[in-house]
Amino acid sequence: LASTEVDLSAIQPGQAIKTTFRSQPLFVRHLTDKEIAEADKVDASSLRDPQTLEERTVDGKKQWLVTMGVCTHLGCVPLGAGEGENRGEFGGYFCPCHGSSYDTAARIRKGPAPKNLEVPKFSFTSDTAILVG
Ligand code: FES
Repeated sequence: LASTEVDLSAIQPGQAIKTTFRSQPLFVRHLTDKEIAEADKVDASSLRDPQTLEERTVDGKKQWLVTMGVCTHLGCVPLGAGEGENRGEFGGYFCPCHGSSYDTAARIRKGPAPKNLEVPKFSFTSDTAILVG
């Protein structure tokens, strides 16, 4: 199975891009300090799919949130990366198909989706590049 390299150097804090991994949308987001703080202040055990931002990111590189851009309800592509400004009420991603809202760690917070956006296997190949897959 193919891996995908993503250049992070042009992605500014607050920005998210949409690219492709194994023919599916992939979101790569550079979180701001505020977005990290918002994710961290949530008690993960209270969530539908309990995970901390730490568990969803690489040690020491918490600002890089890498997820599939596939809603875990019925597979639509949520808004909030590379197009539109609608990130939903929790500031992460918003799925317009049936109204699932994800937070700044791409965790499901409201709406019918059962799971957080999936974090694929990835690693850093330099300070400004990742290899997904
Ligand atoms: Fe996203 Fe239904 S597919 S809310």
